[in-house]
Amino acid sequence: MGARRGAHFKLPTGRFPLKFHEMPARIQKPPRHWRQEIDFILISQEQLARRVHALARQIEKDFAGRDLVIVALLNGTVVFLADLLRRLSLPLRLDFIGVSSYGGGTESAELVFTKELRLDVSGRDVLLVDDILDTGKTLSQVKVKLRKLRPRRMKICVLLDKPSRRVEPVRAHYVGFEIPNHFVVGYGLDYAERYRNLPFVGVLRPEMFKHPDFIPLLSAKKRLLLQGVKTTMEGGTKDLNHG
Ligand code: PRP
Repeated sequence: MGARRGAHFKLPTGRFPLKFHEMPARIQKPPRHWRQEIDFILISQEQLARRVHALARQIEKDFAGRDLVIVALLNGTVVFLADLLRRLSLPLRLDFIGVSSYGGGTESAELVFTKELRLDVSGRDVLLVDDILDTGKTLSQVKVKLRKLRPRRMKICVLLDKPSRRVEPVRAHYVGFEIPNHFVVGYGLDYAERYRNLPFVGVLRPEMFKHPDFIPLLSAKKRLLLQGVKTTMEGGTKDLNHG
C-alpha cells in the first residue's frame, strides 16, 4: 500500500470526529523533518486522542465513587498520563514509581527502583499506568511490590500492548492499542532517550538501530528489544474497541 504524498495529518473532510474504524487505513508518513529517522506513523495524534478519551470514559465508569490512586511508572508514561489525567473527571490522587532495568544485557536483568511510592495505597483502589506492556517483566515486579502495600484492588492501564513479546503472564485491564513487534517511539516512548516528544507513535527506521551516536546510550533492555523487531507495516495495529 503506497502513501499519498502530503496526505498524512490532513483531517478528512465531512463529519468530524470520525470513529477510529473510519480513519483511512494507510501508511502515514511522518512530518518531513522526522523522515530520516522515523519510517512511518503507526498511531496518529488523532487516533491517540480518540483512544485516550475512550479509555478515560471506561476508567471513570469503573472507579466512580472509589478512593483512587493513580500510580504511574517513570519515564515513558508521562505524555500518555498527562493526556489521560486531563480527560478524567473524578477525584483521584497521583504518585509515581521510578523503575530502571539494570544489568549487562541479559534477559534476566533486574529492575532497580529509582523512585519509591510516597502515597499510602492501603485499602485504596490503585490504577497502575504504563506506556507499554512488552515482556511483562516490569509490571509483574511492580505488581508484587504494590500488593505488599495492600491496596483494595489494583488494575493496570497501558497505552500499548505487544502480546507477541510476553514472557511474564501479565494482563492489562485497559489497553489503548495492541501492536505488532515494531520498535516504536514517540508519545513518551524513547530510543536512547530521544523521540519522547513526538506527538504520534512512530516506527523507528532500522538504520537508526546502528547509529553510532545512539548505541552507547542504549539500555540493556533496549538492546534486547532491537532483536527481532518488525521493520515493515505488516501486522498492523489493533484498536481494542474497533478490532
Ligand atoms: C519501558 C516501558 C515499560 C517497560 C515495559 O521502560 O516504560 O515500563 O519498558 O517493558 P517490559 O514489559 O519488557 O518490562 P524503559 O525501561 O524503556 O524505561 P522508560 O520508561 O524510562 O522509557
